[in-house]
Amino acid sequence: MTRRKKRAAARPRRTTLEELRTRLLVAEDTLRAIRAGEVDALVVGKAKEERVVTLAGAELPYKVMFDQMFEGAVTLDPDCVIAYGNRRFADIVRTPLPRVVGVPLTRFVSTADRAALDALCREAVRRSTRGELSFRAGDGSRVAVSVSLAPLRLKRSTNPIGLIGLIADMTERNRAAELLRESEERFRLMLENVRDYAIFMLDPGGHIVSWNRGAQRLKGYRADEILGQHFSRFYPAEDIERAKPAHELVIAAAEGRLEDEGWRVRKNGARFWANVVITALRDQTGTLRGFAKVTRDVTERKRAEELRARLTRQLMVAQDAERRRIARELHDETGQALTGLLVGLRTIERSQTIEEAVEMAQQLRGVAAQSLVDVRRLARGLHPSILDDLGLSAAVTRYVEEFAQLHRIVVSLEVGLDSDRLPLLVQTTVYRVLQEALTNVAKHAGGRNASVRLAREKATVELRVQDDGTGIKRRKGPRRAGLSHRQGLGLEGMRERVALLGGSVRVESEPGAGTTVTARIPVESGALG
Ligand SMILES: Nc1ncnc2c1ncn2[C@@H]1O[C@H](COP(=O)(O)OP(=O)(O)O)[C@@H](O)[C@H]1O
Ligand SMILES: [Mg+2]
Repeated sequence: MTRRKKRAAARPRRTTLEELRTRLLVAEDTLRAIRAGEVDALVVGKAKEERVVTLAGAELPYKVMFDQMFEGAVTLDPDCVIAYGNRRFADIVRTPLPRVVGVPLTRFVSTADRAALDALCREAVRRSTRGELSFRAGDGSRVAVSVSLAPLRLKRSTNPIGLIGLIADMTERNRAAELLRESEERFRLMLENVRDYAIFMLDPGGHIVSWNRGAQRLKGYRADEILGQHFSRFYPAEDIERAKPAHELVIAAAEGRLEDEGWRVRKNGARFWANVVITALRDQTGTLRGFAKVTRDVTERKRAEELRARLTRQLMVAQDAERRRIARELHDETGQALTGLLVGLRTIERSQTIEEAVEMAQQLRGVAAQSLVDVRRLARGLHPSILDDLGLSAAVTRYVEEFAQLHRIVVSLEVGLDSDRLPLLVQTTVYRVLQEALTNVAKHAGGRNASVRLAREKATVELRVQDDGTGIKRRKGPRRAGLSHRQGLGLEGMRERVALLGGSVRVESEPGAGTTVTARIPVESGALG
């Protein structure tokens, strides 16, 4: 681009026709140069002084900067008519640069924003102003822009000879800001609506500054009740005494994160077992801005773990008791019987007559037969071999028939297993529950009718034993816990054995209206034996 200095106006001397003609020529040429964008400075002559107007002296570097800057830039006369615009401005308004010069800036503003721009221009004569407007570009499209106007003064005190304007295209920035706002909104909605986790934030001192639905559900406080409060109120008194809440923040701040499990307190005073993660929140400069706290209620998991531990312990105790019982029986009964046999055999050895020997042998046969009965009973107690021989359906059927005969109780039976291919431990457990439930009917119910139903529903085996007896009388005093160490399982032992397989036992009983025991055991779980 050519660099030329043009005289915008020369100081008048004599008003000869020749001079006027020259000045007209100069003025026309100046206007052309301005329109063509060839001008890098306007020289204004005014009462004995010459001044360079435009960009701080309009040296080449400024000119280059002005033209190459990414923002649109214009110089305006005091009436807001464009004296010069840079290329970026021409881009923003989608109008060729020569057609920008000499045009009022309002021409590029949408009708609705014209008054606003006029106001900006009027104010800019006095001081810098800024506004966000909608431009209408040369092709009719709308562009959101930020317009900054400032007065252009030759001296501090004098009236401005024009205005400088910076016009920034806000479209991209607005879109980015909108996207950011939307994404923040989505994130906020997600956090607020999570129900399974209490998610909230603390300031560096531990006061609550945000609260989600999960937090309300878990802890029982509404946001307006809890915001601003100190988070230590979620801890039990003994933790507060030991300054645990503050200590947890110190550790989280030092290590970035802290995970803890322990009792926490709901608004209503109830305790729950919580899994807690506290994360320190730091800004780019590393300054601690607060903490994010995520709390989960894992009471159920803890209960299940405790129950499993208790059941395992009880099972071990029960197994030990069972072994002792068997040992005692073997020692006391079978051992005694065998000793008797030995003694008897020696007597036969030493017997004088055949009659004596025969009589002794007959006695011993009785002892041996009794021992055999005892050993069979012991063996059946250890494991009902009928299950191996016949399978569950047949074993249940046979047991119910024998039971009905023995106790003179009418038992209706419904067996609906499609096959007996059940894990052995499930079969044994079902059989034991049946034995115990029916034994209870005989022992306690006093009724005349009972029904047994064994069925499989999808992945669950269900055994139901019902009677029309007295119902279970409510007992006073502490419940007997643990497996029955005597013969059967007892109701408690029944529950525990079934629970070990991941199932449950329901006992329904009304005084005078009978009792129903329902055991449900999953068969496609991992607990297969
Ligand atoms: N079918 C039933 N009808 C009436 N009472 C029952 C029945 N089953 C259980 N009970 C009552 O519940 C109590 C607990 O049963 P259980 O745990 O099997 O212990 P146990 O049979 O060794 O007494 C029994 O002592 C009895 O009072
Ligand atoms: Mg019993």
